[in-house]
Amino acid sequence: MPNGWFISIEGGEGAGKTSVIRHLEQELTAKGYPVMVTREPGGIEIAEKIRSIILDKSHTAMDARTEALLYAAARRQHLAQKVIPALQAGAVVICDRFIDSSLAYQGYARGLGIDEVYSINRFATSDRMPDLTLWLDVSPETGLSRIHADQGREINRLDLEGLTFHHKVREGYRVVAERFAGRIVRIDADRTPEAVWSEVRKIVELKLEAGKDPRDV
Ligand code: TYD
Repeated sequence: MPNGWFISIEGGEGAGKTSVIRHLEQELTAKGYPVMVTREPGGIEIAEKIRSIILDKSHTAMDARTEALLYAAARRQHLAQKVIPALQAGAVVICDRFIDSSLAYQGYARGLGIDEVYSINRFATSDRMPDLTLWLDVSPETGLSRIHADQGREINRLDLEGLTFHHKVREGYRVVAERFAGRIVRIDADRTPEAVWSEVRKIVELKLEAGKDPRDV
């Protein structure tokens, strides 16, 4: 696998990304693929610092464009320093959130415009899009109730947004998924973790193991 394979996992709060990623990592590793799991900012010091500015609960004055630019900056650093080298080494890179988070959260839910946010992100990523994106589509009611049930989870600035915001995020993902229909696969994440995982497994098997380019399926 000379150029690796880039999978991003997307979804609103409480969609179950963490559990899907854990399963996927185990499964693909067991099958002999070199796997790298990461998330933005993925332990890259410069990007971690940017992230702590974005998610700081005291930064209530943060302008929406500032937020979008900071996400794009953190994304760039993570991509350049970690993702691209791993792909060049032939790894399957599984990334917890990528460009579509910015399109759904900043572009749609914050109202900056999907096209506007896409354009700064095209610059940030030099147009390196994931080969496959799994969108775990959860209703905000289900997602937020899962988060509140998970005592160990840290609550960040975006979690504190109201239900209306999370509905907008979901609508944003819908629009983005339609626009990038060849790359993004929607998975109904209101179901049990087992049902979600079983569907994810089938999709990844089909696309990765069949040796097909996911954009052609
Ligand atoms: P995180 O702790 O990664 O939460 P989660 O477990 O939900 O992924 O927090 C990231 C938050 O930042 C989350 O609320 C989504 C938001 N976000 C954006 O708004 N735009 C982006 O480009 C990214 C990557 C995340």
